[in-house]
Amino acid sequence: MEEFIQDLPKAELHLHIEGTLEPEMMFKLAQRNNIDLPYKSVSEIRAAYKFDNLQSFLDIYYQGSQVLQQEQDFYDLTWAYLEKAASQNVRHTEIFFDPQSHTDRGIAFETVYQGINRALQDGKTKLGISGQLILSFLRHLSAEAAFSTLEQAIPYKDNILAVGLDSAEQGNPPAKFKAVFDRAQAEGFLTVAHAGEEGPPEYIWEAIELLNVSRIDHGVRSMEDPKLLDYLADKQIPLTVCPLSNVELKVFDSMAKHNLKKLLNLGICVTVNSDDPAYFGGYIAENYQAAQSALDLTKQELYQLAKNSFQASFLPPESKHKLMVELDNYYQNQKAS
Ligand code: ADE
Ligand code: ZN
Repeated sequence: MEEFIQDLPKAELHLHIEGTLEPEMMFKLAQRNNIDLPYKSVSEIRAAYKFDNLQSFLDIYYQGSQVLQQEQDFYDLTWAYLEKAASQNVRHTEIFFDPQSHTDRGIAFETVYQGINRALQDGKTKLGISGQLILSFLRHLSAEAAFSTLEQAIPYKDNILAVGLDSAEQGNPPAKFKAVFDRAQAEGFLTVAHAGEEGPPEYIWEAIELLNVSRIDHGVRSMEDPKLLDYLADKQIPLTVCPLSNVELKVFDSMAKHNLKKLLNLGICVTVNSDDPAYFGGYIAENYQAAQSALDLTKQELYQLAKNSFQASFLPPESKHKLMVELDNYYQNQKAS
């Protein structure tokens, strides 16, 4: 099973680049940039990664991001992720970045964007992995701050596919950002939003109806609303689910209680993703693996999850088709062997 999962051609659609900052890289960049870390060792950092909920994670995650200062830092971070993803046969990845975590510290938008984008270009040519960017607004900040971030992104809009919404969900409903998302869509950006991670199903409805999202990030609390489940299945609105994240942030008490398999069996286009792999104990293959063993997923179900990941991606139809053929060939060969 482990090998089947590792080699399964797949797309990753919910990955925060700042969440791929491994403790070793945190030390390296702190040294490069002359920053004092509140930790003495890699093991001390890892020991601090015990979370009670989303906010307790976000506090540590934003603190970690402060070591990212120069364009090369963003390049190194993104390159390390792409190498890891390619080693797990991720064929395509759509990466969130949080510009406000950096611009609010005086780092230019362009520095962040150029570093990440240069690594994405190298990923394509050197690793054969395609990558796209999704600019995510921090929802605990104001709509005005999101507007100003959108303005800064407009010169780069040809290389930024979509805008999204992340950070503290409770009390920061999608409705708060309707005007910004309207403007982003007028500029040609697609839209996605984190919803129904800690927040109620109503936030998922709002993201669909007010922000016109193409996908919901997380969305696991849709299970509490039968009408919403029917709607997601009927319209095939994808959910980008992150199993290890949900267990680490106590959205579910254990992996055995995760609703991934139920959502899949309801015919919803669910996908498996790693969210913030440096903080939650694993990259995409470890997420598939943890869900597989706790929920007893079959090879057919794993194949369906991978197929959904290509289907739910923002790739053009011909690229989607090519990757799905590659996946079908892989699955048929595995079944025959
Ligand atoms: N930022 C990074 N990871 C996140 C998550 N799981 N939810 C909300 N905001 C995030
Ligand atoms: Zn996320």
